[in-house]
Amino acid sequence: MPPIAQNPVTTVVAAAAAAAVAFVSVLGPAAAQTAWDHREIVGPDECAECHKAETEVWRGTHHHSTFRSMPRNREANEIARRMGLRRIKEGSLCLDCHFTTTQSGRRRDAIAGISCESCHGPARDWIKVHSEFSGLKEGQESPAQISARWAAAERAGMIRPGDMYAWAKNCFSCHVVPQEDLVNRGGHTAGSAFELVSWSQGEIRHNLWHNKGRRNEQASRETQRLMFVIGRAVELETALRAVGRATQRADYAVAMARRADTARRAVAQLAQLLGIRELTQMAQVAGGASLSLNNGSALNRAAGQVGRLAQQISDRYDGSRFGAIDRYLPSASQYKGRPAR
Ligand code: HEC
Ligand code: HEC
Ligand code: HEC
Ligand code: HEC
Repeated sequence: MPPIAQNPVTTVVAAAAAAAVAFVSVLGPAAAQTAWDHREIVGPDECAECHKAETEVWRGTHHHSTFRSMPRNREANEIARRMGLRRIKEGSLCLDCHFTTTQSGRRRDAIAGISCESCHGPARDWIKVHSEFSGLKEGQESPAQISARWAAAERAGMIRPGDMYAWAKNCFSCHVVPQEDLVNRGGHTAGSAFELVSWSQGEIRHNLWHNKGRRNEQASRETQRLMFVIGRAVELETALRAVGRATQRADYAVAMARRADTARRAVAQLAQLLGIRELTQMAQVAGGASLSLNNGSALNRAAGQVGRLAQQISDRYDGSRFGAIDRYLPSASQYKGRPAR
C-alpha cells in the first residue's frame, strides 16, 4: 500500500458541463472564525497571568510573529490590493485568519496575531468559569462539579484540548482557505499542506500545564494516532465544503478538488487499516460525492456526514487500538518547527 500522505491524484474537477448548472448557495460557514463574536475576545495578556509557560511558547511561533511581519509583507499588500482593500486591516477578509481582533460597535481592532483565543475560543464568558474551581478551593470540587464546570465552559464557547474534533476543525478553518475569489483573483495560496500531527507537535506544542511547566511533552503515541485519523477526516470535511463553494474552473476549484480527493483516498485507506465502522461509512459517503463545480448542497450534505462521523471518532476512541497506522505517523524530524521551551 502506498503511504497515506502520498496518494496519486487522478480526479480533478469534473467536466465543464457542471458549470452550466445554476449556482446553489446553500453553503455552510466559510471559515469558522468569520462567525465568531469578536466582542468576546479578552486578548492573550489575560491568559498570560496564569498561563506563563504556554505564553512563552506562543511568543516563539509564527502565529505570534505574524502580527508584526504581515502588515509589512509585500506579497500581503499586493494580495490585499488585488482584493480591492487599501490596507490589510480594512474589512474582515484578512483579519479573520491572520489576526486576533476585538470589536466594539462595527469597529474591529487587531490586537495580536493568531493567539490563545483563536484556538481555544473567545473567552469573555468562560475565562472565569474554567479557572475558578466552582468557587471552591482547588481540589475541593466533587467529580460532578468538575464535569459541570467544564460543560459550562464549553457552552460558553471554550474549545478544550479534549475535544480533538473541535480544535482540529478550527485549525483547518484557517489552513484550508475556502474563499474562491481570494485564491483566484487575490492570488492567495489555497491553504497549507497541513497535517495534524506534524503541525501540532512542532513550534506550537504547549503541553505544559498538567505538569506545571516542567516539560513540554509530545502528545502520547495513542493521541498522535487519533490526531492522524481526525486530521484526515477533518481535512476531508473541510475540503468537501470548499469544493462546494467552487463556481469556476480555475486554481481554487482544482486545488480544493485535489485536496478533497487526496483526503478521501487517505480515509479509505485508514478505514481498511483500522476496520472501524465510522471510517468505512465516511469513505463511502465521500467516495460517492461528485467533486464538480456548483455542487454546493450535495457536497455540504456529504461534509456534514463526514463531520458527524469524525466527531464520533473523537468522542469514542483514544487511539490505543490504532496501532496498525503507526508506520504512517510523521517522525519528529517532520514536525513544523520547534517549541520555544
Ligand atoms: C485565573 C487564572 C487563569 C486564567 C486567567 C486563565 N486560565 Fe486557563 N486554566 C486555569 C486553571 C486553574 C486551569 C486548570 C483547571 C483544571 O484543570 O481544573 C486552566 C486550564 C486551561 C486549559 C485546559 C483545559 C482542559 O480542558 O484541560 C486551557 C486550554 C486554558 N486554561 C486556556 C486559557 C486561555 C485561552 C485563557 C485566556 C483567555 C486562560 N486559560 C486564562 C487558570 C487560568
Ligand atoms: C481562510 C483563512 C485566510 C484568509 C481569509 C486569508 N489568509 Fe492569508 N494565509 C492563511 C494561512 C493559513 C496562511 C499560511 C499558509 C502556510 O501555511 O504557508 C496564509 C498565508 C498568507 C501569506 C503568505 C505567508 C506569510 O504570511 O508570509 C500572505 C502574504 C497572506 N496570507 C496574505 C493574506 C491577505 C492579504 C489576506 C486578505 C486579503 C489573507 N491572507 C486572507 C489564511 C488566510
Ligand atoms: C494554534 C492553536 C493554539 C494556540 C494559538 C494556543 N493553543 Fe493552547 N492548545 C491548543 C491545542 C490543539 C491543545 C491540545 C494539544 C494536545 O492535546 O496535544 C492546547 C492545549 C492547551 C492547554 C492544556 C495543556 C496541557 O498541559 O494539558 C492549555 C492550558 C492551553 N492550551 C493554553 C493556551 C494559552 C494560554 C494560549 C496562548 C498563550 C494558547 N493555549 C494558545 C491550541 C492552541
Ligand atoms: C485563525 C486562523 C488560524 C488558526 C485557527 C490556526 N492557524 Fe496556524 N497559521 C495561520 C496563519 C495565517 C499562519 C501563517 C503565519 C505567518 O507565518 O505569517 C499559520 C502558521 C502556522 C504554522 C507555522 C507554519 C510554518 O510555515 O512554519 C503552524 C505549525 C501552524 N500554523 C499550525 C496550526 C495548528 C496545529 C493549528 C490548530 C491547532 C492552527 N495552526 C490554527 C492561521 C491559523
